[in-house]
Amino acid sequence: MSKKISIVFHSVCGNNYLIAKEFYKEFKAQDADVKLLRVNDPNLEELAKQFSIAGQYKNEILNIEEAKVEKLFDSDIIIFGSPTYFGNVSGAMKAFMDEFSPHWPEGRFWGKKMFSFTTCANGEGGGDLCLNAMTLFGQHMGMMIIPVPGNLVTGQSFPAYGLIHYVGDYSNLRPSGKIIPAIKEMTLKIMKL
Ligand SMILES: Cc1cc2nc3c(=O)[nH]c(=O)nc-3n(C[C@H](O)[C@H](O)[C@H](O)COP(=O)(O)O)c2cc1C
Repeated sequence: MSKKISIVFHSVCGNNYLIAKEFYKEFKAQDADVKLLRVNDPNLEELAKQFSIAGQYKNEILNIEEAKVEKLFDSDIIIFGSPTYFGNVSGAMKAFMDEFSPHWPEGRFWGKKMFSFTTCANGEGGGDLCLNAMTLFGQHMGMMIIPVPGNLVTGQSFPAYGLIHYVGDYSNLRPSGKIIPAIKEMTLKIMKL
């Protein structure tokens, strides 16, 4: 039986969306049963005003099915992607995480596997802290965290906690270069679990 995988992302400027979409494409290429879900953001319009790039994928993002906790009940593997905001997950992603509250006492998510990715401006931006915030959330839910192996892509290094892509000060450095092969390799690793 094929594994059920859900990719849940929040994105204002499009970068987490593009990474989520790349994961989706790679899982599809492996014939996985995968769905792509967008975290609702009531502050999207306000946040988008800060970035001229934000309009580029806005409509595409809004056309993606909205994430609901119940839609993840039958997932074997959940992949979370959030922009790094002040060294943490975004408010929209945190609000979505808090919606898991009724399902914590019943251990609904216990034993599922999870993986995280994030984007942040640069190496000093605290992307690893955002990954850790997602990891901690997963642990609270009883999920088993999938780490990044040290040899994921030859000659490249990534944090053990998940994948990070740096978008620059204007959030306009689109995912390319080392993150793309890393997504492909991570997909293949996850499919073997
Ligand atoms: C409220 C806010 C807080 C942010 N905090 C950080 C931060 O702590 N570190 C950082 O590197 N970038 C920070 N950024 C930049 C975001 O990480 C960047 O816009 C995001 O990664 C782009 O992802 P997206 O294209 O999927 O929206 C912040 C942006 C906003 C709007």
